Amino acid sequence: MTSPEARNILTKPKLLMTRVLSPVTIERARRDYDLDLNEADVPFTPGELVARAAGKDALLVALADRFGADVIARLDPSVKVIATYSVGHEHIDLQAAKARGIRVVYTPDAVTVATAEIGFLLILGAARRASEGERLLRAKAWHGWQPMQLIGRRLDGKRLGIYGMGKIGQAIAKRARGFDMDIHYFNRRPLDDALGATYHATLDSLLAVTDILCIAAPSTPETRASINAAALAKLKPGAIVTNIARGDLVVDDDLIAAVKSGHIAHIGLDVYANEPNIHPGYYDLENAFLLPHMGTSVIEARDEMGRDALDNIDAVLAGREPPTALV
Ligand code: DGY
Repeated sequence: MTSPEARNILTKPKLLMTRVLSPVTIERARRDYDLDLNEADVPFTPGELVARAAGKDALLVALADRFGADVIARLDPSVKVIATYSVGHEHIDLQAAKARGIRVVYTPDAVTVATAEIGFLLILGAARRASEGERLLRAKAWHGWQPMQLIGRRLDGKRLGIYGMGKIGQAIAKRARGFDMDIHYFNRRPLDDALGATYHATLDSLLAVTDILCIAAPSTPETRASINAAALAKLKPGAIVTNIARGDLVVDDDLIAAVKSGHIAHIGLDVYANEPNIHPGYYDLENAFLLPHMGTSVIEARDEMGRDALDNIDAVLAGREPPTALV
């Protein structure tokens, strides 16, 4: 005789979860799905991804899972939806998924506040030389208060240049008002309500007025490598550069050279090209405040990302339109 539990599993849709997500998310996924969880929490190789996806209805995946056209072409026809636990979706070839009739959904709302908060941590950490201060203290090399030690910059009255005024850019702008900053932004289109921020129709025009740059644009063919030597040269001498978006918007060699030359005074980075193998030049920069891609690393965001991903999967498998679909 089959137990009620086993019968339930037989009728539940099959879900592959490629990383260990928050306990609340796993609990709901186990309740509603026949869950195959990658307990090892190590990203799958493309071959492993294809193998583990076989027979699954839905895949709940994350940034390190690369769904190029080659992987998508090899996915089992059972796969109806790929849900990425992120707002960024450059790891998934949307056109290839669309061509195979696979829906791709994401979690754009759940990440906004957490990422904007890290944006401000980067801005403050860079402007106030937080890493240098912490290193000094931990090295037991601090000999007491000194008037001219670790002199940074105040934020009030400074021009904050927000590159990319999506939800996260707007959440940064909202917080920047509290710091009395003069807010400017570059976006493909001006916003109807830009929270009093000044629109720039080109990136160059934004850079020319910026004291502190906050990169908040997605990684697209147009934005990749846009913060290069020429763009950095447009910033005022002594400017600060921060990045909460994606590392590949920045040409690492050019940014490192600009910091070394003193043209850029401080940087604050949470994201890098080729994570986790970041450009080694960053490790040697004293005036760099560096975090390991932790913009959304708060339990509130993790639970909401899981909720939104599962809501989307539920909708696709029930034949409803998912709330936040990419294709
Ligand atoms: C995103 O959502 O794209 C972040 O980078 C990871 O949560």
